[in-house]
Amino acid sequence: MIDAGPAGRLRLAPSILSADFAHLAASVATVDSETDWLHVDIMDGHFVPNVSLGPAVVTSLRPYSSHFFDCHLMMTNPGKYLEAFRRAGADGCTFHVEVGGTAQLIRDAHALGLRAGLAANPDTPFSSVAPYLGEIDLLLLMTVFPGFGGQSFMGEVMDKVRAARHEIDAQHLALDLEVDGGIDVTTAPVAVAAGANVLVAGSAIFAQPDPLVAARAIRDAASRSV
Ligand code: DX5
Ligand code: ZN
Repeated sequence: MIDAGPAGRLRLAPSILSADFAHLAASVATVDSETDWLHVDIMDGHFVPNVSLGPAVVTSLRPYSSHFFDCHLMMTNPGKYLEAFRRAGADGCTFHVEVGGTAQLIRDAHALGLRAGLAANPDTPFSSVAPYLGEIDLLLLMTVFPGFGGQSFMGEVMDKVRAARHEIDAQHLALDLEVDGGIDVTTAPVAVAAGANVLVAGSAIFAQPDPLVAARAIRDAASRSV
């Protein structure tokens, strides 16, 4: 089990969705020194119109990274797979509020020793996640509709990020606030200024000629906004 580190600190989490799946271990190692967590996107072809990878890939990748594995479960039935991802080496699992059963999922994740994350799609209001802020370890506010890498950042989600940051601070919660989708050197500072502290970036890192340089540039741009 890898420690997530103190909540609220600025973190960059590269999404392996945009990496070369034939060379995952090498891709992850390339950006290791300029990144903090590893964001692992799990898609079931039902909650989102795409399929990606499952616990077997997490198991294979685990020995090649000492980073916190931040698993984003874009699944209709995440509860069925929490234990499998935990056994595979996930440190945190984030499930979507839109699939329901949130209170039980949070309890199940914690019972397995996982950090519990709750995600909301761009059109899901803050009021849907607000009741759970005191129970979760991470709130993920999607800045694209989930399913694919390489989409454009939705700036209109920043109102929700600001609302979440306001609540987290007002309640003195030890909670990470993550954004995912279209994060790059331009949008990372925008998200950080709105209150996000964990930045997921896929194509802006792994689809670049030099992923390490790209990761460093995003980190530098975001740090200037803190
Ligand atoms: C989208 C995934 C993201 C995705 C981000 O459904 O949850 O994590 O990999 O990719 P970029 O950074 O390219 O928008
Ligand atoms: Zn994701």
